[in-house]
Amino acid sequence: MSHEVVERKLGVLTILILLVISVGGLIEIVPLMIGAAAKQGNVKIVPRTALQQEGFDIYVREGCYLCHSQQIRPFRSETERYGPYSVAAESQYDHPFQFGSKRTGPDLARVGGRYSDDWHRIHLNNPRDVVPESNMPGFPWLAKAPIDGELTQRKLRVLRMLGTPYTDADIAGAPEAVKGQTELDALIAYLQALGTDKSRGTWSEAP
Ligand code: HEC
Repeated sequence: MSHEVVERKLGVLTILILLVISVGGLIEIVPLMIGAAAKQGNVKIVPRTALQQEGFDIYVREGCYLCHSQQIRPFRSETERYGPYSVAAESQYDHPFQFGSKRTGPDLARVGGRYSDDWHRIHLNNPRDVVPESNMPGFPWLAKAPIDGELTQRKLRVLRMLGTPYTDADIAGAPEAVKGQTELDALIAYLQALGTDKSRGTWSEAP
């Protein structure tokens, strides 16, 4: 009977729907806000250097995220293969996020330090030189492309506006920091930093 009233009166129905949605929303969102500090664990996330940030942008430009995720889920099968699962804080300076949704290749969230710079140099130029069965494309043009330091500086400035705590010195020193470096150098610097902040803490021991 009362159900019939609700279904017939559009205003009442709308109000009740909104009520249900907002309760659902609150239940999902509020714990996230309260628990945010806890989820960061024992990690201190430092902003990327100017060179690493250039590498991040190349990673996005080349579409690496189409085959690689950067999000280790809290399952044993994942943590045993890749290392400690990802926490929200690790992505806080990523614009845009690189979680990814497709793993043609392995997750890269903890790839930093797993290989040498030289390995990456060969692998990114032509993956089959180090992994014969690889179907990852080569990116041979990166080694020939210099980085424009002027642009790097402007990028860092914008990122600071978006909340990355770059200092005046970071921004002033950006052109110098990337001087003479190629896009390949930048991409490798970025890859080598992935996951390294987190491995210092002890946060991985408990969910
Ligand atoms: C078409 C899909 C594809 C794209 C695009 C791609 N990769 Fe890969 N990647 C793979 C596959 C498959 C592997 C595993 C075989 C190998 O090591 O080459 C891999 C492996 C890797 C590895 C080694 C990871 C490990 O833990 O062994 C790194 C690092 C990597 N890719 C970086 C990149 C970067 C950086 C880009 C963008 C410039 C990129 N990939 C683009 C498919 C891709």
